Amino acid sequence: MMTEPTASAPRIQAPKDPSPHAGLSATGDNEFVMTRADFELVRRLIHRHAGIHLADGKQAMVYGRLARRLRETGHGAFCDYLQHLERLIAAGGAAAESEMQQFVNCLTTNLTSFFREEHHFPALAEDLRARCAYAAEGLRVWCSAASTGEEPYSIAMTAIEALGASARVEILASDIDTQVLATAERGVYPADSRGLSEQRLRAHFQRGTGTNSGRIRVRPEVARLIRFATFNLVHGDWARLGQAFDVIFCRNVMIYFDAPTQRRVLQHMHGVLKPGGLLYVGHSENFSDARELFRLRGKTVYERV
Ligand SMILES: C[S@@+](CC[C@H](N)C(=O)[O-])C[C@H]1O[C@@H](n2cnc3c(N)ncnc32)[C@H](O)[C@@H]1O
Repeated sequence: MMTEPTASAPRIQAPKDPSPHAGLSATGDNEFVMTRADFELVRRLIHRHAGIHLADGKQAMVYGRLARRLRETGHGAFCDYLQHLERLIAAGGAAAESEMQQFVNCLTTNLTSFFREEHHFPALAEDLRARCAYAAEGLRVWCSAASTGEEPYSIAMTAIEALGASARVEILASDIDTQVLATAERGVYPADSRGLSEQRLRAHFQRGTGTNSGRIRVRPEVARLIRFATFNLVHGDWARLGQAFDVIFCRNVMIYFDAPTQRRVLQHMHGVLKPGGLLYVGHSENFSDARELFRLRGKTVYERV
């Protein structure tokens, strides 16, 4: 389901537990018991809900990512927490949705940076200029795995640099993870964030002072181009995305899905892109099997057939 983020003040993102090599059983010095059966259940649940395929060797990573949630919910073993989660799911309703969201937030991988895969952005600028010439109603861009926001803000900066500050470009920035989206919506980053030139820092960000020194905030004229919303690429209601898009960024998320899931998502993307619209994908993603939907137009850029 597509839902707007709550109006509450954005939360600061707590880092995911960076200890992927934490041990797994009570017999060692580990805090929680996690059996192979617990891991298999986590795998099934995250695949069913988010399409994320966790490889066999990811048990230690899962332990590290979910341990905090066990602490927060007061469970002493993975099987207790998972039973609690399954009971909630069976009962349905808001409590199930809320705990499932926490579970998903723990398990997503959100690595991103400003102007990541830099070659896409001059190509995007050129494409926006060309489209702008004949788009009567402005342009629509969807950043479909926006993570903490560096990607949609890079798209917005590119649009302003290509078309000017009054650019008629609407960017929908979505992700399944509500916690990273809250960070994205806040638009505050460390001043030494990777990928930003000094020129872009000056043009598109305000520098924090006093207690905010060392931080930068996206300028309102950049932020105004973006609308944030939660959207699950695997179970989302695609009809609610509104008018067709000119451009979709779907980078470094399909790598987490298996082939049938990727195929279904591509079919949906085809349905919400205008004919001739462009799909930007991640450096290790290749969709040349789906030739009847998308043809390769440049390095990791596809055109809707
Ligand atoms: C590695 S990040 C990529 C961020 C950005 N696109 C980039 O390339 O820098 C992957 C993002 O995909 C999101 N994601 C994973 N499964 C998803 C799903 N089923 N629907 C929507 N987003 C999903 C994760 O929450 C995460 O923020």
